[in-house]
Amino acid sequence: MAESNNCENPNLQQQVELLKKQLAQAQTLTALGELVGTTTHEFNNVLMTIINYAKMGMRHKDTVTRDKCFEKIFAAGNRAAKITNTVLGMARNRSAGQEPTDLTKLVENTLLLLEREMNKYRIAVDRHFQPIPEALISGNQIQQVMLNLLINARQAMPRGGRLTIKLQHDAENDMIDLVIRDYGCGIPQDKLPRIFDSFYSTKDGPDASGKGGTGLGLSMCRDIIESHHGQIRVQSTIGKGTAFTLKLPVAAKPTPRRAPLPVAGLPQSTLCNSNAR
Ligand SMILES: Nc1ncnc2c1ncn2[C@@H]1O[C@H](COP(=O)(O)OP(=O)(O)OP(=O)(O)O)[C@@H](O)[C@H]1O
Ligand SMILES: [Mg+2]
Repeated sequence: MAESNNCENPNLQQQVELLKKQLAQAQTLTALGELVGTTTHEFNNVLMTIINYAKMGMRHKDTVTRDKCFEKIFAAGNRAAKITNTVLGMARNRSAGQEPTDLTKLVENTLLLLEREMNKYRIAVDRHFQPIPEALISGNQIQQVMLNLLINARQAMPRGGRLTIKLQHDAENDMIDLVIRDYGCGIPQDKLPRIFDSFYSTKDGPDASGKGGTGLGLSMCRDIIESHHGQIRVQSTIGKGTAFTLKLPVAAKPTPRRAPLPVAGLPQSTLCNSNAR
């Protein structure tokens, strides 16, 4: 158990900031590592399907079998293209700049990164996604927050269990709510105020998958959410589970492009809008 948080000494405070920066860099690499691991595994599965159906098509000359093989190869090829597009999308979204982002897609991509880990620890994921507007976020940073929360949730259910992820638009405050709820061990009420402190951890160190135990995860989550002018809230009951709610800003709606004014003497159909794509 590593517990300490007294950063009144400016030197200590600087060291904590430095460690947090290093952790953020390490976590970016972890996310990339997950990405490479997951996609290589998935891609290999797709290739096996393609190779096996191609062999089957070469062995059987009848049209029915060959048609079936082509269909399977076509479906597998499409899946491979989807995987490549997901990887390219994630690799592109690595900047720290905040921009209008499809949060639903980001949540799905993050879950894809943890799919194998969740399966291994027998965690089922329930999605309750409502239609939401785009969020003004750094996809890279919010993905790090999600990875932290999802791994904490997984570690709170060592014998497996259920995770609920909710996305909804809080129209009253024009924010997007992202809720990650587990049905794990819960956090004692007297410990709740400390969980966002740097180096507060109740874990003995990294688990079998090499994750957890530094006590910087939630402190970093809070810093990231604050830099987005958002909020992070927690509710927990011992033995029942824990829910973290992130409130993130909605991106401003783009102002609609105005149609060009008609030019006198020209029929409207000959006008062209240089902005049109
Ligand atoms: N979903 C959860 N269920 C139960 N306890 C939790 C949950 N999330 C966080 N905690 C508690 O809060 C502590 C701090 O979490 P935090 O993510 O900051 O650190 P950590 O997971 O211990 O280590 P790391 O910095 O490697 O993530 C955890 O050690 C755990 O005691
Ligand atoms: Mg953690």
